Amino acid sequence: MISTIGIIGSGTMGSGIAEVAALAGFNVVMNDLSRKALDSGLNRIKQNLNRSVEKDRITAVVATESLARIRTSEEFSPLETADFVIEAAIEDLNIKRDIFQKLDAMLNPEAIFATNTSSLSITSIAATVKRTGNVVGMHFFNPPPLMKLVEVVKGKQTSDETAAVTVELARRMGKAPVICKDTPGFIVNRVARPFYGEALRLLGEGVATVEEIDRIVKLEGGFKMGPFELMDLIGIDVNYAVTKSVYEQFFHEPRFRPHPIQRQMVEAGTLGRKTKKGFYQY
Ligand SMILES: NC(=O)c1ccc[n+]([C@@H]2O[C@H](COP(=O)([O-])OP(=O)(O)OC[C@H]3O[C@@H](n4cnc5c(N)ncnc54)[C@H](O)[C@@H]3O)[C@@H](O)[C@H]2O)c1
Repeated sequence: MISTIGIIGSGTMGSGIAEVAALAGFNVVMNDLSRKALDSGLNRIKQNLNRSVEKDRITAVVATESLARIRTSEEFSPLETADFVIEAAIEDLNIKRDIFQKLDAMLNPEAIFATNTSSLSITSIAATVKRTGNVVGMHFFNPPPLMKLVEVVKGKQTSDETAAVTVELARRMGKAPVICKDTPGFIVNRVARPFYGEALRLLGEGVATVEEIDRIVKLEGGFKMGPFELMDLIGIDVNYAVTKSVYEQFFHEPRFRPHPIQRQMVEAGTLGRKTKKGFYQY
């Protein structure tokens, strides 16, 4: 029976998942490297909950009680009580493997370790821990409080029971889970690679502007957001890391190749909405 959920990383995704978990009635322990990062994650959660109260989606009592269920810490020790941990630190295999090794040494033997990775190999992350059967991908979408889909990714060693518990947890959080195999980018990020990649190539070749491409994709394709709006929402750095990861894992398959525009924007620190400047100004 899951009662406490540990979340590693209090950024865009970690804070959003913490909010969803607390609203679903779970106790949450949210961890990050610094107090500053934790406070900004917690502030985002407060703002979202307040907005939900204003829009009559939840009552003020539910908002207050949900917030009270979230504890934050820069230390790993408060995660000891977690029955289920969701890692949402940056998209870097070595950092994720390091986190999982630390968790392996301290959590109870039944605890499940999930990673919110967008593209990295669940099998490779699991290989660093003793209880490989308890490691699973639990891929939420941005923003977690609004997006319904959760990809439950079965690594080579993930047990059927771990996958079933994860599917059930996603449902208790009000999400629509889909089980998939461990393949670079899973389902959505694999399908989405050409969406961003071709848009970047069109832009790079001067075929059309950012605004025109976004407008046409929405108008004719029926998409809610264009590729550039979406990259700004995701974070250019996050999207670039995912593109590189899928490209490398598919042995440099040309159709997944990143674009120099992405690299240059990361170098310039124009990362999208979070830095108030990306393909658009905010
Ligand atoms: N942004 C998206 O649209 C999106 C969607 C789905 C999945 N993801 C995945 O979720 C993960 C997090 O992405 P994000 O957009 O929230 O990134 P982010 O940069 O907003 O947040 C990452 C957080 O992790 C923290 N962190 C880094 N190393 C850590 C460590 N060793 N221990 C604890 N905390 C650490 C950072 O301080 C930061 O606060 C990535 O794996 C990403 O691929 C992102």
